[in-house]
Amino acid sequence: MLRVLFFLLACQSLILATRKILKVPLYSRRNFNGSDVFLAGNSAKGSETLQLLLQSHNNMEYYGTISMGNPRQNFSVIFDTGSSNTWLPSVNCPKSNSACQNHRKYNSSRSSSYIPDGRNFTLRYGSGRVVGYLSKDTMHVAGAELPSLTFGESLFLQHFAFSSVKFDGLVGLGLGVLSWSNTTPFLELLCTKRLVEKCVFSVYIRRDPREIVFGGFDETKFEGKLHYVPVSQWRTWSLEIAKTTVASKQIGGRSNAILDTGTSLVLVPQQTYHNLLNTLSARQQNGYFVVTCRSGSLPNINILIGDTVFPLTPSNYLMEIILDRKPVCVLAIAPINRGFWVLGDIFLRLYYTVFDATEKRIGLAKAK
Ligand SMILES: *[C@@H]1O[C@H](CO)[C@@H](O)[C@H](O)[C@H]1NC(C)=O
Ligand SMILES: *[C@@H]1O[C@H](CO)[C@@H](O)[C@H](O)[C@H]1NC(C)=O
Ligand SMILES: *[C@@H]1O[C@H](CO)[C@@H](O)[C@H](O)[C@H]1NC(C)=O
Ligand SMILES: *[C@@H]1O[C@H](CO)[C@@H](O)[C@H](O)[C@H]1NC(C)=O
Repeated sequence: MLRVLFFLLACQSLILATRKILKVPLYSRRNFNGSDVFLAGNSAKGSETLQLLLQSHNNMEYYGTISMGNPRQNFSVIFDTGSSNTWLPSVNCPKSNSACQNHRKYNSSRSSSYIPDGRNFTLRYGSGRVVGYLSKDTMHVAGAELPSLTFGESLFLQHFAFSSVKFDGLVGLGLGVLSWSNTTPFLELLCTKRLVEKCVFSVYIRRDPREIVFGGFDETKFEGKLHYVPVSQWRTWSLEIAKTTVASKQIGGRSNAILDTGTSLVLVPQQTYHNLLNTLSARQQNGYFVVTCRSGSLPNINILIGDTVFPLTPSNYLMEIILDRKPVCVLAIAPINRGFWVLGDIFLRLYYTVFDATEKRIGLAKAK
């Protein structure tokens, strides 16, 4: 999670299951209706039906509901493909931590399935720090039970990053190498406990009903076929971009890109960003790079992945903000001081994405 705070997206979701496929529909908060919260659009054919609801905030923050422990304690969580660890605010977090007090808190004394671990942890995200200690308990997700999941009980949440977000905690969907030592992260546990048929999950956040599917994909959510490419570095959910062009001019070459549901924007290396600003004739205003709001006069940003071009259109990469009391358009693309890209929600909204841990590949198709 390299969350860029300026954009906090939100959404709701549910998980359904057909045999060993769990679906998590997601909704945007603008359409949020509390009475819908636990009513999944459940059309599962199999006998097993598992539901989980995800919610959204300002269409910039996608989260779902899970419960921890027995009896269950409910939480809103972000499902983050950019990290591997899971954490929830702890009931032991001090009153002085306002970010923690603004959220639901896990109380291990209330759970019969709690197992202490006791090791301390610190996690650093792009947007802030989370500190606490490790515990184990049973997570309930979409009606499935995941026993002995190691997670962080957080005693400290950095104020600016976590105070006003709608989610309480985070479930990392990343790979094992990024997790705390001697722990099995969520996805690996879900797969090794055989709660899903295949070690695959898919993300659809274009419009309601938004969903995450664990165990497979939902072919009603995309057009055409899935274009598969290998995971480029088996540490994170990453792929290789061959090149990026804007109006037939190349602005970026071969580069790794992390697919990150926990980041709102698309982040690109400095040089690529610089080339992009030039190509779009962006001008500086109060520290922002402003471009015309007439999206019809702007080109697509064409990202070549494998042998397929995945365009970002102006309506996807522009956002309107108020500057000097006037609406202006700025890029929903930001520079990152690294050699790789981060394809966040701006990209994932356009492209249905299959994260396949079995075949170590990522599938992309145009989201419906
Ligand atoms: C929420 O949904 C219920 C059932 O669909 C409907 O009766 C109710 O009016 C809705 N509430 C709002 C605030 O939209
Ligand atoms: C927790 O969530 C479950 C559904 O997952 C719901 O049935 C239950 O009422 C919730 N409990 C509380 C205390 O909100
Ligand atoms: C945690 O749960 C225990 C057992 O129900 C209760 O006695 C205690 O007050 C709770 N702690 C807090 C801080 O709410
Ligand atoms: C864990 O952190 C607490 C402070 O939150 C500290 O008192 C304790 O000594 C630490 N334990 C270990 C094993 O580092």
